[in-house]
Amino acid sequence: MQNFDYFNPTRIVFGEDTIGRLSELLPSGARVLVLYGGASAEKNGTLAEVRAALAKHDFAEFGGIEPNPSYETLMRAVGQVHREQRDFLLAVGGGSVIDGTKFVAAAALFDGEPWQIMEARGENVTRALPLGSVLTLPATGSEMNNGAVITRRATHAKLPFHSQHTFPRFSILDPRKTFTLPPRQVANGVVDAFTHIIEQYLTYPAGGLAQDRFAEGLLQTLIEIGPRALAEPHDYEVRANLMWVATLALNGLIGAGVPHDWATHMIGHELTARYNIDHARTLAIVLPPMLQVRRDSKRAKLLQYAQRVWGITQGSEDERIDAAIERTRAFFESLDVKTRLQDYAINAAALDDLIAQLEAHDMTALGERQDVTLEVSRRVLEAAL
Ligand code: NZQ
Ligand code: ZN
Repeated sequence: MQNFDYFNPTRIVFGEDTIGRLSELLPSGARVLVLYGGASAEKNGTLAEVRAALAKHDFAEFGGIEPNPSYETLMRAVGQVHREQRDFLLAVGGGSVIDGTKFVAAAALFDGEPWQIMEARGENVTRALPLGSVLTLPATGSEMNNGAVITRRATHAKLPFHSQHTFPRFSILDPRKTFTLPPRQVANGVVDAFTHIIEQYLTYPAGGLAQDRFAEGLLQTLIEIGPRALAEPHDYEVRANLMWVATLALNGLIGAGVPHDWATHMIGHELTARYNIDHARTLAIVLPPMLQVRRDSKRAKLLQYAQRVWGITQGSEDERIDAAIERTRAFFESLDVKTRLQDYAINAAALDDLIAQLEAHDMTALGERQDVTLEVSRRVLEAAL
């Protein structure tokens, strides 16, 4: 097992009717800014519950954080924080709102032009405003990690940053708040969480025995409940399990002491930045060909994945690997998530531009062995057509 330093300070308050506990979770005397996305939090009553819980607090609101949150929008929130001297940020929404709030938290106290935070991937962040979240969409794990992905619309750049200063202090997870999700977002959440687990599990054997078993259990749980989350949208237990699995998929636990890949995510971000395809949908396009193209360096783990996650034991090694990759693709398709670039009318003519974007963003040596060069990324995208 590799050395690691695991730290996760986020308090999780989980379950029905937990938004009312906001008041006790916030520091007394905090000057709170509530940040949210479009209309969903208002429509499904989440904002009303938040406002009621904050009745005795000094708070203001900033709405309009879009999916794939933009620097341009978030800088307006930074302006409001400064003008009103807000000192605690509360994100109400999905990964985009929570990510956006992390950026605002860091940008508000940053010396210099805040886009530099993205250019340095967060390494230059030395402090941030404290933040908390009320999660409405199980998918990204942002509610219990320190990462965020921010888009600069003007340049089609979608980049991640991490900082030990941007863990939420707390996150409230009420599975009932997910009942209003459209099927597309539920399916996105399943695919995103699934891919987060794969990016930390399906690399090469590193002796993380418990991490492997834990990851396999989370994958199998998603295979079991993903279709049910779509078919039975008001089943509390199914939504509760989906919510907790998505959090566990990217809160650092399964990734401690083992190598990470993330090449699928980085290529996926370029597809979102260029074509505005939902984050999870880009992963469904890139992951199956990524596993195909890198099948030799991932061979041992692909065979383990085939056997332990999908129960594939028959056939030659290559047949088992093919079968596991096909089962993965079929799982995504069964959730009505398309897995080909051509499903989005993207053809071979687009590849040069995507490769140029990867190069511009320094994504030239990706993966657990840093051997996913631009040439390998091109082969993955060709195989994704
Ligand atoms: O904008 P509103 O009206 O709120 O609607 C949202 C949005 O349109 C809607 N929604 C959210 N909760 C709802 C709801 N609709 C009905 N009922 C509810 N309860 O869902 C739409 C999508 O929301 P968004 O927050 O964009 O989705 P998601 O949670 O999938 O977040 C995606 C973003 O997170 C980043 C992605 O790159 C993308 O920008 N990621 C963040 C990560 C992290 N911080 O660790 C890791 C991930 O790999 C990912 O990259
Ligand atoms: Zn993701």
